[in-house]
Amino acid sequence: MSRKILMMTIMVAMTFASACENKGSVQIIPLPVEYKTYNSSYELVQEMKITHNLDAANLEKIIAPFNDYLSVKYGFQQLVKETGDKATNGSLVLLLDKDNKRIPNEGYNLKVTAKNIKLEASSHSGLFYGMQSLIQMVEDPDENLKNPYIGAAEIRDYPRFKWRGLHLDVCRHFMPKEFVKRYIDYMALHKYNTFHFHLTEDQGWRIEIKKYPLLTEVGSVRKETLVGHGRRSDKYDATPHGGFYTQEDIKEIVDYAASKFITVVPEIEMPGHALAALASYPYLGCEGAGYEVATKWGVFDDIMCAGKESTFGFLEDVLTEVMELFPSEYIHIGGDEAPKKQWQECDLCQERIVSEGLEDEHELQSYFIKRIEKFLSANGRKLIGWDEILEGGLAPNAAVMSWRGETGGIEAAMAGHYVVMTPGTHCYLDHYQSNPETEPLAIGGLTTLEKIYSYEPVPDTLNPVQAEYIMGAQGNVWTEYMPNSKHVEYMVYPRAAALSEVVWSPKAERDYPGFLNRLQKLRVLYDYMGLNYSRVEFDGER
Ligand code: ACM
Ligand code: ZN
Repeated sequence: MSRKILMMTIMVAMTFASACENKGSVQIIPLPVEYKTYNSSYELVQEMKITHNLDAANLEKIIAPFNDYLSVKYGFQQLVKETGDKATNGSLVLLLDKDNKRIPNEGYNLKVTAKNIKLEASSHSGLFYGMQSLIQMVEDPDENLKNPYIGAAEIRDYPRFKWRGLHLDVCRHFMPKEFVKRYIDYMALHKYNTFHFHLTEDQGWRIEIKKYPLLTEVGSVRKETLVGHGRRSDKYDATPHGGFYTQEDIKEIVDYAASKFITVVPEIEMPGHALAALASYPYLGCEGAGYEVATKWGVFDDIMCAGKESTFGFLEDVLTEVMELFPSEYIHIGGDEAPKKQWQECDLCQERIVSEGLEDEHELQSYFIKRIEKFLSANGRKLIGWDEILEGGLAPNAAVMSWRGETGGIEAAMAGHYVVMTPGTHCYLDHYQSNPETEPLAIGGLTTLEKIYSYEPVPDTLNPVQAEYIMGAQGNVWTEYMPNSKHVEYMVYPRAAALSEVVWSPKAERDYPGFLNRLQKLRVLYDYMGLNYSRVEFDGER
């Protein structure tokens, strides 16, 4: 390092070191990497002028949430846009400098003074996240300032992990497209960048596939649904439940997410959790007949046949349409909870084991996933699956989503595979968040806000090279016990706010009391947005 760079680095470090004195005064979630506050404010005014060096489409994406917030909440006009490379005379200055190596990808530098707001980044997403921070920083007018304002501050911020995910199961209970978009809005507010869209299940197939219309004609509807807990009830509601997204709906959701810098990763479950597909096209299964879209929860023996070529033909056709709709690098193929009983009893599966020289049914599952991985790879995509895909040997370029604890993730990372951590103990947002006696029915478990906040995605058993394979973490939202979108919101927030800090903020800076403090400000925004978050952590409020 040259002397000059060294001096500059020390000066930058000194500038931000003093931020510690003001800790807690930038009230945003997730907590920024470094910040410093001043005793002044920038007053927001009507007809704020933006100067920027962005193209029109990206400018619109980046400023729309801030614009909408100011116009709906405070009746502000649209911001006035001006282009200018080195411009610094606007009220809001947005500068993209792709060559700025000092600002990491998705990161941003924000400076709010009494005179103006300046936001810089080396990526469009960085500018977008800076605007999300600004939204959280807006204060209502008060006795001193008649306009809404933002406290003067300097922020240097960037994410710790590149996979900051939330999942949503729309199969156990179908969620309307408009809610899925709202879910994406809440994700963007917390700087999540990956939406794992769980689209196929035993209880419903939710995505239109043109070549196989029965998947939605038959597979998207179950005749009734179990009432009560799956382990304790045998009552049904005698009411059909259905719903699916047309390909136009899917495009709309994917485009909407992209406008918020969120990638949608679709999940098409195989070879298990596939009863809705089997009910639609029975030839796909080992049994070949007698299937029905599931009406209760759990793991079913019914499975796609690994012995028939037609199973792979079907899956390749489905994945081809899926890849046309979702531009994501990764395609999730499920792979979890696939009982091997029917494979043991199926002549074709047994023939496959012999013809491929496989040891047993676990290796048959591995054969299945490797074949799909080869297909995705040939189409320029990467496969990700639940940690069961490790059994019988992991496909060469597959990534693993570790849900049965961290063991699978650790094994995969040690073998040089990419991993997303999502252990049931800390990352399952379908678990109870407080005392089950006073909470609505949930699947079980107990994952309090503090517990999820305490989660550390990089296990200390990994050395630094292996640790690089941990892409991040994700919260999973299985909806067996979430019959509607309000209930989903109740289970997900504020726990997803806690997880956003796990995946964004520096490990050493995380501080639960500080988080709770900042959450008090963020919940005002939640109230404004109409988000049905759980109040259980707020002094016993309900
Ligand atoms: C899972 O929760 N079955 C991945
Ligand atoms: Zn079979």
